[in-house]
Amino acid sequence: MKARTGGKKRRARLPANLRLARSGVHGYGIFARDFIPKGERVIEYVGERITKAEALRRDEARLARLAAGGDGCVYVFILNQRHDIDGRVPWNPARRINHSCAPNCESEVGRGRIWIVARRDIAPGEELTYDYGFAYAEARNHPCRCGAAECAGYIVSSSQRWRVRRWRSDAGHTASHG
Ligand SMILES: C[S@@+](CC[C@H](N)C(=O)[O-])C[C@H]1O[C@@H](n2cnc3c(N)ncnc32)[C@H](O)[C@@H]1O
Ligand SMILES: [Zn+2]
Repeated sequence: MKARTGGKKRRARLPANLRLARSGVHGYGIFARDFIPKGERVIEYVGERITKAEALRRDEARLARLAAGGDGCVYVFILNQRHDIDGRVPWNPARRINHSCAPNCESEVGRGRIWIVARRDIAPGEELTYDYGFAYAEARNHPCRCGAAECAGYIVSSSQRWRVRRWRSDAGHTASHG
């Protein structure tokens, strides 16, 4: 058993100001029940602390599941240069938070913990989202359905979105003229 981060319970409850429901973005999502002010730590992203080698092994298992028609969801979160957090555990309700290219939350990583923090005021009923920060090299494997006007079409770190847009416009150019 790898180290766990966050509380001790096997199945943690959502904080009272949040609810779990089907999402128009993907699968389940987490929604605000009440107003959440900018800057509030909304929920901690907890799970098993694993090494990079173990994270790679689990990602290969995820890809094999996906190839077999199963669940290809990514729940591993980068913690630091040595460790990641695998949030695919029942005691991590934050694992249901989806990505958006125009997110209302952001992740705050420090001292071995990951917090999801409101980056602006959030109204009751809004789905919580943050930028997953995926690498450009991975983007093509993760189409984005966040629905934001500024959606890059793929789940990728905001700092890398220009590269995805350039690649997509080059691909469109080739397709229409090639
Ligand atoms: C941490 S889970 C998010 C919760 C997920 N909706 C669920 O029901 O468990 C991450 C996975 O959700 C999906 N996902 C999250 N945000 C998405 C988005 N904006 N567009 C498409 N799929 C998304 C992807 O399959 C991703 O690997
Ligand atoms: Zn998007």
